[in-house]
Amino acid sequence: ILLRGRVLSFRSRPRDREDHASYLYETDGGILIEAGRIVAAGAFTDIAARAPLDARIVDHRPLLLMAGFIDPHIHFPQMQVTASYAANLLEWLNTYTFVEEQKFAEEAHAQRFAGLFFDELLRHGTTTAAAYCSVHKASADAYFAEAARRNLLMVGGKVMMDRNAPEPLTDTAQAGHDDTLAVIETWHGKARNHVAITPRFAITSSPAQLEAAGALVQKFPDLLIQTHLSENNDEIAYTMELYPEAKDYTDIYARYGLLSRKTLLGHAIHLSDREMDAIAEAGAVAVHCPTSNLFLGSGLFDLKRIREHGIRTAIATDIGGGSSYSLLRTLDEAYKIQQLRANRVPPIESFWQATRGNAEALGLVHKIGTLEPGTDADIIALDANATPAMRLRMETIGSLEEELFLLQTLGDDRAVRHVYVAGSPV
Ligand code: GUN
Ligand code: FE
Repeated sequence: ILLRGRVLSFRSRPRDREDHASYLYETDGGILIEAGRIVAAGAFTDIAARAPLDARIVDHRPLLLMAGFIDPHIHFPQMQVTASYAANLLEWLNTYTFVEEQKFAEEAHAQRFAGLFFDELLRHGTTTAAAYCSVHKASADAYFAEAARRNLLMVGGKVMMDRNAPEPLTDTAQAGHDDTLAVIETWHGKARNHVAITPRFAITSSPAQLEAAGALVQKFPDLLIQTHLSENNDEIAYTMELYPEAKDYTDIYARYGLLSRKTLLGHAIHLSDREMDAIAEAGAVAVHCPTSNLFLGSGLFDLKRIREHGIRTAIATDIGGGSSYSLLRTLDEAYKIQQLRANRVPPIESFWQATRGNAEALGLVHKIGTLEPGTDADIIALDANATPAMRLRMETIGSLEEELFLLQTLGDDRAVRHVYVAGSPV
């Protein structure tokens, strides 16, 4: 199959808005796909010359073709938690989230929501996510079975949590370890699935459980680790009561061998310089979740300071603390947070982050996040004329940068016109 359209693919993180070398952009571009992988992307005439004579051409002009969005922090069992009215993180968790997640003990419920979850992601142009499942092994089984059925590249993990939550939502240090091990053995590397070791956060894991998670990391050093860090001031205070011997919140994870290049740290808002240095040295990733941080009133991610410390970054929805499945809406809210911090983020950097940048954060850039030859053909076609208001604004727009900024500012699922997963339209 040969896709024709305006083609955009990032080569590296844009240093500034003038960094045109950081991306490929062809106004009449082509992407040649064979057996689910990208063979070549570039100017249409060049790509067409390389295509087999019988290649089917799908003309998506004037849509913008790029790698699918990647959402590196989202909660699979929280679709019915979104829009829960809470004062702050801990109230939101206890009142709504820890109630809702209990439903995922039931296999039929988990299976139904796995389908709904991937439908919703794909509708929003998200072709890969790193998700927290519930504490129940059955939720991870449902998640990965459905991802495999759809040939989606998905990261996920059975949440480990053995305290400070309702009894039906807790495992034990041993059971959390054993169930995670079983999920790894059943699903990791099966189809396109990637299993992540997932201690929810320090409040809901005993020292024994963090130790068990650390043992899994030792045994499976290539697996991603996902957890939450320093999202809310009350959360931090409670955490430090639970781990009084730790230097700070970050040090808790470091002590148990959970802070590495494989670690995805959700939120990472309220950090000392010492913590930032430790995170940077470990090579762990700070995952900004702007709609969630605003919705729960958690705080304003300090991208400039995070970058100055040399910390790797990602951007994510954090559904159901987050308020949109759309990476476009998420980029918009992240932009506004940085505006409040006198740090203006160029649109090309935003789109790099939502695609290649997030793929690098997951250590999966050799597979997803770009249109590089040999990578999986997870591709979206975006329409900056998706709504009447966008169409009007497009009348005055002449550059790619302005178009991306419009997509980010007014765009949502309506701007996602086509989605390809491993070369097949969905
Ligand atoms: N911290 C621990 N669990 C959660 C969760 O489910 N959502 C958010 N936003 N923060 C958390
Ligand atoms: Fe989260």
